[in-house]
Amino acid sequence: MKQGYFITGTDTGVGKTLVSVALIIALRNQGLRVSGMKPVASGCVNKGSGFRNEDADRLLEASNADTDYDIICPYRFSEPVAPHIAAKKAGINISIGHIAQCYNQLNSSSDAVVVEGAGGWQVPINEEQTMSDVAIELALPVVIVVGGRLGCINHALLTAEGVIASGLSVAGWIFNQIDPGLQQASEVKNTLQRHMPGLLLADIPWQERPDATAISRDFVFLT
Ligand SMILES: Nc1ncnc2c1ncn2[C@@H]1O[C@H](COP(=O)(O)OP(=O)(O)OP(=O)(O)O)[C@@H](O)[C@H]1O
Ligand SMILES: [Mg+2]
Repeated sequence: MKQGYFITGTDTGVGKTLVSVALIIALRNQGLRVSGMKPVASGCVNKGSGFRNEDADRLLEASNADTDYDIICPYRFSEPVAPHIAAKKAGINISIGHIAQCYNQLNSSSDAVVVEGAGGWQVPINEEQTMSDVAIELALPVVIVVGGRLGCINHALLTAEGVIASGLSVAGWIFNQIDPGLQQASEVKNTLQRHMPGLLLADIPWQERPDATAISRDFVFLT
C-alpha cells in the first residue's frame, strides 16, 4: 500500500526537515522506496545549475527513489521570506494543481512520499491559499513537529485544531526540544500527551549535532 505523510510544524525552524529525513530513513529501513518532497521553498541559492534549496537537498539525499529536482521542489525562490511574498516578488503564482501533479509523479515511482511543508500550517502560498490547502489537496495524514520551547503548547494545540478542522487526520506528533534551556520539559511533554491527538512518534532531545539516523531508530511506527 502506498504511504504519504505531510510534515507540518508549530513554526519555521522547529525541526521539520530533521524529522522528514528521519522518517524517510525509517521508511527506507522497512524496505520501501521513499521520496521526499519540499513543494515550496524560499531562501534558495543559485549554485550555477539553478536554484537549490537546502531542505530539498537533504530530502533528496535521504531518498532512494528515482526523482527529479524540479519534481521534488517545484517552487524555489531566492528571497528568504514567506512563500507568497517570495513568489510575488518572482512574478510566479504558486499552483496547488502543479504541486499535486508533481506529487502524483513521485507517488507513482515510490512506495512512500514524505512532504515537508514551509513554515507552519497556515502559511500563505498565494493570495487565497495556505500550506494547509496543499495537504488537503494531497489528502495526506499530517505529522506535527512540535518545536519544544516556551509557548509550544499553545502552538501545538492550535496546529492540531487546524489540521482536524481541515478534515485531515493527525498521524502523530513529534516533540523536538529545540531550546536546550526549556524549563520543565517533561511537564510540557506530559501536557501535550494529554491534549494532542495522534501518537507521540518520537521524543527528540536537544542535541549539539542532531542525528536523523539515530532518530529514525526511535520512531514509533506509522500506518
Ligand atoms: N533537537 C534538536 N537539537 C538541536 N538542534 C536542532 C534540533 N532540531 C532541530 N535543530 C536545529 O534547528 C534548525 C532548524 O531545524 P530544521 O531545519 O529541521 O527546521 P525546519 O522546521 O525544517 O525549518 P524550515 O521552516 O526552515 O524548513 C537546524 O539548524 C537544526 O539542526
Ligand atoms: Mg525545513
